[in-house]
Amino acid sequence: MTMTSADVHFDMYDRELYASPYGMFRRLRDEAPLYRNEEYDFYAVSRHDDVARVLSDRAVFTSSKGGVYQIASAGIEMPPGMFIFEDPPLHTIHRGLVSRLFTPRAIGRIEPRIRALFEAAADELVGAERFDFVKDFANMLPIQVIGMLLGLPDSDLASLRDTFHRSQNEATADPDRDAFAGVAEAAVWFTEYLDHRAANPTDDLMTQLLNTEFEDQTGTRRQLARDELLLFLVLITGAGSDTTVNAISWAGSLLGDHPEQRRKLIEDPALISNAVEEVLRYESVSYHICRTTTIDVELHGQTVPAGSIIVTLPGSANRDERHVEDPDRFDITRSPGQAYQFSFGPHFCLGASLARLETRVAVEALIARIPDWTVDHEGAALTTGIDTRGWDRLPVEVV
Ligand code: HEM
Repeated sequence: MTMTSADVHFDMYDRELYASPYGMFRRLRDEAPLYRNEEYDFYAVSRHDDVARVLSDRAVFTSSKGGVYQIASAGIEMPPGMFIFEDPPLHTIHRGLVSRLFTPRAIGRIEPRIRALFEAAADELVGAERFDFVKDFANMLPIQVIGMLLGLPDSDLASLRDTFHRSQNEATADPDRDAFAGVAEAAVWFTEYLDHRAANPTDDLMTQLLNTEFEDQTGTRRQLARDELLLFLVLITGAGSDTTVNAISWAGSLLGDHPEQRRKLIEDPALISNAVEEVLRYESVSYHICRTTTIDVELHGQTVPAGSIIVTLPGSANRDERHVEDPDRFDITRSPGQAYQFSFGPHFCLGASLARLETRVAVEALIARIPDWTVDHEGAALTTGIDTRGWDRLPVEVV
């Protein structure tokens, strides 16, 4: 098996490919399961088993250089607290502190508020002949949920959302842009807010994090340093807002394009959780997740040298015919199997159950009010980044 066959070319920055990657993903799986891109200096794996191996073996495939290509290739030194890009022991400690706040119980407590928020947004659409699924519905909901969790002031949520949207989309669409600029911008905002919250404690997640005591990697008992806490907040907000807008917008476009599947949901709303899993499998929000090799490693008979960037393609793994039957068929009744849109292994998304809940509640709220819509594909526009995939504009007509 060769690493590249002459016309298998995977360029993450290619907009046409981004719009329709599944033919190329299949070719990568079949013809170049270990793909090498010389121009951008990365390897890529696309098969289900290879993606699982790379994402789960952190000793060989580290996150510490950055879990997205633009950061890993820039050689940025990671500050402590951005635990999505950490290895043990720090990752285990930091993740443990935050994971307590995302338990099903903690999320269950805010479900009624999430439902009320999403239903009010869906109510606004009743009677419209056309609306934009992103701009008029999904856009603000996930950041409002983060606002509830962290106790952020409503008046700043729109600008925070825009900051993260810019850093995850416009900045990563261009290999020469600084993908960390949005992080720095958001950190400034959170610094001011942290001062305010320290002086005015409440029962929100921010206050809990401020007061948490833990044993660090040196065995010292302490509270979180200010910079660690700042990066936690940036990470939670950045990881949980745009991604979930994308998931809700994929539900809007796929259910709009598959009226027969949508009818099944209307007849049996108990299928909605399953439908959400299928939406997430079929159109993975996560476009790529990367790791860096710590040692020379054998993959498909080739040696990948230590220090190489390996890009994993969750959207390809989710459609690997070696594991999924008839993977290119969108079928909301299929039994969900292992899928990779929320990663796999030690960095598995901490917000996965929250994101699933939000997407389910969004679909429930919408189809109860607007059962039928068609997507105006001419007016629609995909997001522009390379970390994630979703919609920036998704106009629909109510039928
Ligand atoms: C559909 C929506 C979402 C998608 C597709 C998604 C995707 C991901 C992926 C792929 C990773 C792991 C990256 C890696 O392995 O390097 C991750 C990690 C993470 N996500 Fe999500 N995410 C979503 C929603 C959320 C939400 C709602 C939150 C919280 C409010 C959240 C918080 C996190 C955190 C804190 C991590 C870091 C976990 C760790 O490194 O241990 N995510 N997410």
